[in-house]
Amino acid sequence: MSFFRLYARAFALLSRARGAAVALALANVLVAAAQFAEPVLLGRIVDKLTAAQAAARAPQWREVAPPLAAWVAFGLFTIIASVIVALNADRLAHRRRLAVMAAYFEHALHLPLSFHVRAQSGRLLKVMIEGADGLFTLWLSFFREHCAGVTALFVLLPLTLFINWRLGALLVALVLAFGLTMNFVLRRTERRQSEVGRYSSDLAERVSDALGNVPVIQSFARVEEETRAVRGLINELLAAQLPVLSWWAAAAIATRACATLTLFGIFIVGIWLNIQRLATIGEIIAFMNLATMLITRLEQIVGLINYMFLQAPRLAQFFDVLDTVSTVADRPGALEVGRLKGAVTFENVSYSYDGVRDALSDLSFHVAPGRTVALVGATGSGKSTTVSLLHRVFDPTKGRVLIDGGDIRDMTLLSLRRNIGVVFQEPLLFARSIEDNLRVGKPEATDDEIALALERAQAADFVARLPQGLSTPISERGRTLSGGERQRLAIARALLKDPPILILDEATSALDAKTERQFQAALKAATAGRTTFVIAHRLATIRDADEILVFDQGRIVERGDFDALVAAGGLFASLARAQFIESEVGEAAR
Ligand SMILES: Nc1ncnc2c1ncn2[C@@H]1O[C@H](COP(=O)(O)OP(=O)(O)O)[C@@H](O)[C@H]1O
Ligand SMILES: [Mg+2]
Repeated sequence: MSFFRLYARAFALLSRARGAAVALALANVLVAAAQFAEPVLLGRIVDKLTAAQAAARAPQWREVAPPLAAWVAFGLFTIIASVIVALNADRLAHRRRLAVMAAYFEHALHLPLSFHVRAQSGRLLKVMIEGADGLFTLWLSFFREHCAGVTALFVLLPLTLFINWRLGALLVALVLAFGLTMNFVLRRTERRQSEVGRYSSDLAERVSDALGNVPVIQSFARVEEETRAVRGLINELLAAQLPVLSWWAAAAIATRACATLTLFGIFIVGIWLNIQRLATIGEIIAFMNLATMLITRLEQIVGLINYMFLQAPRLAQFFDVLDTVSTVADRPGALEVGRLKGAVTFENVSYSYDGVRDALSDLSFHVAPGRTVALVGATGSGKSTTVSLLHRVFDPTKGRVLIDGGDIRDMTLLSLRRNIGVVFQEPLLFARSIEDNLRVGKPEATDDEIALALERAQAADFVARLPQGLSTPISERGRTLSGGERQRLAIARALLKDPPILILDEATSALDAKTERQFQAALKAATAGRTTFVIAHRLATIRDADEILVFDQGRIVERGDFDALVAAGGLFASLARAQFIESEVGEAAR
């Protein structure tokens, strides 16, 4: 995204506060005009004094009083207006910063799981904070300084030509020199700076990845290697950043030199013009002051361009996330469905992650409401992908998924997902209390309902044993609990939601064989009266499923109930035989 496009987008985000922004901009123009008046008035006063001196008489108060009074008035106005502008600019920038963060957060939560699988949560957080901070600084400095600066440049600078065009031309030359220098430096450093942006993203990703895997790093004694890798990235980043900084330092020196030369030039040319009777002493003084003021403004603008330039990659990343459109957004006119019965039909469904290889090909099956279907097959055979299509993590590449006879793409996402409970293989828990985690399933649940859900998920005992019971806080991602405990809480949460369709994607994998056996009864109670999809590796778990779909490389190769499939002697039968032998050996060893 080009520099100016970024700038325009940053200001487009203020559109919600358009009134305040326009008022602030106008106030800035007034302040700039008032500031411009001060040196001009100073020049006038000096001219009155020198005129009296030339006439060898004492100056009169009544000659200088009007411009003096005007000067004081402009000065007071500038001070008061600046304070009001600064205060309101602050408020506006703070408000919009938080509003933009909230919008980003909401947008990110709406993005499909397929996006979040690729994007690291650490990176998303970094992009949010850096982007919002960058926008904040940009808005604030614009309304506090740069808006007035730009006004001074484009409106007031030409006006100086009317006061004394020769001296005015010198100021115009100064501004041109500034502009050319900036343009040159921007061109020289743009490519390098985007490299810097890339390196700093890599660095943040690497650090957040390592911090998320501390147990692995420590147990594999990788602390030194990881630190070295991060240092390496830092060195690369510095190697790219330092030349950019040198160019900007050179630019600062060049602009400073321009400024000093201009002041010098105005003085010398002014004296020469005065000798030629083409400029008064008051005009020389007024222009010296105007030039000083303009230089301050120009330096502020250079500062802004420099800042924007360094921020550009971060803002670009921020806008990239905001621009990501959800592939599974609601269709126009999507229906708000109530509680569904849970008849699920897959009609010739194919899905491909990469558009090259099909993860699922031509899948068709029907599940009557309340029945339990088990999905069995080797890892990577497409089981998770199949159930993901049901709660619209993504939509089929070909074919349709129907619930109660209606295409799920014609239902609103929210109402569809209210009807589906999912227990994932990795039980994702919030760093909140156990009760808060359960209530995610049903915020208005009564204590009895919570107790019942825990009971059914076989979690009541261990929760009761915790010192604070239901109020026990869980650490980030539930690391203070064992895998089995986490999983039982995740199941209780889904049961509390009481959806007509339940998906258990290897939900019991973290449970040991004994716990899982105890779990059978609970599972049976949990699945009663709802359409259930169970993915499990231990075939004992799915012994009672109404139908078993056997997957191989994205296709259903066998289907039927347990006994029929074993009798058929196909892929499933060989899986069952292998597990039977395994468990025999396991029992014997015990
Ligand atoms: N997010 C993803 N991006 C690309 N390919 C994926 C993704 N998730 C799964 N796959 C691929 O799709 C195929 C089916 O995966 P999956 O449905 O997870 O299998 P299962 O759940 O049966 O182990 C596998 O080849 C897997 O590598
Ligand atoms: Mg899977």
